[in-house]
Amino acid sequence: MAPVAAPSPARILVVGGGGRENALAWALNRSHGVEGVWVAPGNGGTSELPGCRQLAIPETDAEGLLQACRQLAIDLVVVGPEAPLAAGLADRLRAAGLAVFGPGADGARLEASKHWAKTLMQEAGVPTARHWRAECESEALDLLETHGRPLVVKADGLAAGKGVTVADTMEEARAAIRDIFDGRFGADAGAALVLEERTEGPEVSVFALTDGRDLVLLPPAQDHKRIGEGDTGPNTGGMGAYAPAPLLDAAGLEEVRQRVLEPTLEALRRRGIDYRGVIYAGLMLTEQGPSVIEFNCRFGDPECETLMPLLGAELATVLLACAQGRLAAAPPLAVSPLCSACVIAAAAGYPGSVRQGDVIHGGLQPGERLQLFHAGSRRDPDGMCRTSGGRVLALVAQAEDFDTAFQQVYTGLEQVRFEGMLYRRDIGHQVRSR
Ligand code: AMP
Ligand code: GLY
Repeated sequence: MAPVAAPSPARILVVGGGGRENALAWALNRSHGVEGVWVAPGNGGTSELPGCRQLAIPETDAEGLLQACRQLAIDLVVVGPEAPLAAGLADRLRAAGLAVFGPGADGARLEASKHWAKTLMQEAGVPTARHWRAECESEALDLLETHGRPLVVKADGLAAGKGVTVADTMEEARAAIRDIFDGRFGADAGAALVLEERTEGPEVSVFALTDGRDLVLLPPAQDHKRIGEGDTGPNTGGMGAYAPAPLLDAAGLEEVRQRVLEPTLEALRRRGIDYRGVIYAGLMLTEQGPSVIEFNCRFGDPECETLMPLLGAELATVLLACAQGRLAAAPPLAVSPLCSACVIAAAAGYPGSVRQGDVIHGGLQPGERLQLFHAGSRRDPDGMCRTSGGRVLALVAQAEDFDTAFQQVYTGLEQVRFEGMLYRRDIGHQVRSR
């Protein structure tokens, strides 16, 4: 009997409105068999993407999204951000019979609770720094004094990437502890914290697509979290990225699969968790090998913008196979050998409060190897595209080498502009010769 070809989803809904979702919508739209992509709520970039339509439904409105899926006969839902996953959006849609790429609330705890994730890693023998949990300020301060050195302080719950302090002094660590319990990162993040042993080494992100059993690894990517050149200043969501990061060669990636990803999936299964979506391992490459800094339950942003242009037209089929629990039967996902470079253009003030509503000008013509994705932008009724968030645009280019790819991104950035636009000129310094 001839093997049955893996089906492609014809109609896809992408949930979210950032640069990551713009990149996902763009890549899925050019996948085999895809007839239409909807994005909810989308942004000023997805509203202009040919073949893509916007739905004015917030990512928190599970019932509204479910209704839209039914009306539009959606074949696959791809959930971009962590918050709706942690709130159970994938569970709600799956219960109604939809195919969803993204874990349920149980699997999303990998990101939503640092303590839960650390405990799972310990059980599974996954390499990660030692940690201690505290539920109140005095307990945390006592733990810190007992150790007598400035441990890394992390809010236990979701804190939009801002709940971590790598303290150099005891006083900084104490201040970070007080900030968390003062509720500075919100009630959820302020309920408990984790103190962690500090590890040293370069950082790299590895993304695995999974149906809960099998894994497809994407090229490793390196993010640039600090706002300032030379990796200085406060942490951000990410100011740029590149892939494949040569820090992890094929053997290194295989080690990550065997020592990190496979044992993690197995531990999830032992807890009865059927994890279908992305596992994002934030790794530090220490002298003893890769150590997990954190897991996330979704694609990284801007790593997603960087990686999507490298992936083949099997992407939609592979994501549907993950959602349906039959990844082993999916076609192999082609990955381009090119180097991909991404730089974020942010609004003045980022990562603090930013001005919004500035008109985005520019005549940049995207091409086969040059993409302009939008993040914090919106298209107003007058047709103008205006800034509406901290990270506004992601410019991405692919080339045979990183020097050329970054040169194309930086040349492209000269052709877009908005008041107060800022970007780092040193993204990819690790892989550039000029
Ligand atoms: P996270 O939000 O967990 O990714 O942490 C944000 C950043 O803090 C990471 O990208 C690291 O640069 C740093 N970090 C987190 N945990 C540690 C650790 N145990 N040792 C050193 N740096 C860390
Ligand atoms: N770029 C890091 C993140 O998405 O968490």
